[in-house]
Amino acid sequence: MLKNELDVTLHKADTLKEKPDQNQLGFGRYFTDQMFTMRWNKEQGWHDAKIEPYGNFSLDPAAMVLHYSQEIFEGLKAYRGADDAASVLLFRPMDNLNRLNDSATRMCMPCIPANKVLQAMKGLIYLERAWIPESQGAALYIRPAMIATEAALGVRPANEYLFFIICSPVGAYYAEGFSPTKIYVEDEYVRAVQGGVGHVKTGGNYAASIKAHTTSQRKGYTQVLWLDAIERKYIEEVGTSNIFFVINGKLITPPLSGSILPGITRDTVLQLAQDWNIPASERRITIDEVLAAVEDGSLTEAFGSGTAAVISPIGELGYQGKTIIINNGETGPLAQRFFDGIEQLQRGAAPDPHDWLVRIK
Ligand code: COI
Repeated sequence: MLKNELDVTLHKADTLKEKPDQNQLGFGRYFTDQMFTMRWNKEQGWHDAKIEPYGNFSLDPAAMVLHYSQEIFEGLKAYRGADDAASVLLFRPMDNLNRLNDSATRMCMPCIPANKVLQAMKGLIYLERAWIPESQGAALYIRPAMIATEAALGVRPANEYLFFIICSPVGAYYAEGFSPTKIYVEDEYVRAVQGGVGHVKTGGNYAASIKAHTTSQRKGYTQVLWLDAIERKYIEEVGTSNIFFVINGKLITPPLSGSILPGITRDTVLQLAQDWNIPASERRITIDEVLAAVEDGSLTEAFGSGTAAVISPIGELGYQGKTIIINNGETGPLAQRFFDGIEQLQRGAAPDPHDWLVRIK
């Protein structure tokens, strides 16, 4: 075993699944042949690392994750190289694994050895490389996650955990693809509070968002725009993504205040804005400022940024019975530029001055 590697047992699937039609993937509906798992307990730390056939887990009904939601996850993607479809690329994977460790710390769970897990992840992706779709906009979504497996009903940090990585070939996250979405400005339910867990990737944040999401979908919207929990005034996030506005040619995104997820795509957009000399600021912005800026024509674009959707333009906001159209409901030039720029970077088709790409093959 090399110094930077886990002792991973390899047990490949005996029979391989049929691969789905690349143009009908949807998001997270198909899973590959193998997965990575490892377990943690106080005595042994991380141990029993395996790449094994994809399959069900056996969990005690008292497993603490099932009761108190001690769970964290990440999401990243593997891409085929633009120049050479046989090459396989990951985008900023250490940022995801470091963020997973931030989530672990907040949720009183054990940190993973990020460098070693990256090596194991690369091994898994290499094994699953035939699953990486070639079609435009599609990728292999990688979902690392950790759950508390100890059987106990006291509310406290568990003494046993399972970490796993599964992979899913995916197309666009939203049915609209890259077309502008309709967003409902949510002024009843909130996503997260300062001092809570909104800044880490734990399943409870997503469970808490489903009520608002389904209610907005029934009203004909794709997602919700979250406002702050205290004044219902400051903009936080959009759906499962961070949000950007373009006002007077300047890019504006809410600051990482403690209730907002520190998105890796968000950080990529901010870095690219700096590289491309686009003025950008991380500052608080109210829904009233947004409405006034649409009204006076200074707000020209709004878009979400996230791993799943990459960049997703916003064409319409619904707020307190009013419909607010942004950029005539069309994709704006900056959303398009960031989408194209990030896609090119992720596929190795643009220079990579920040060393974001990790080549597997
Ligand atoms: C992301 O885009 O970063 C996400 O976390 C979306 C995922 C929850 C499906």
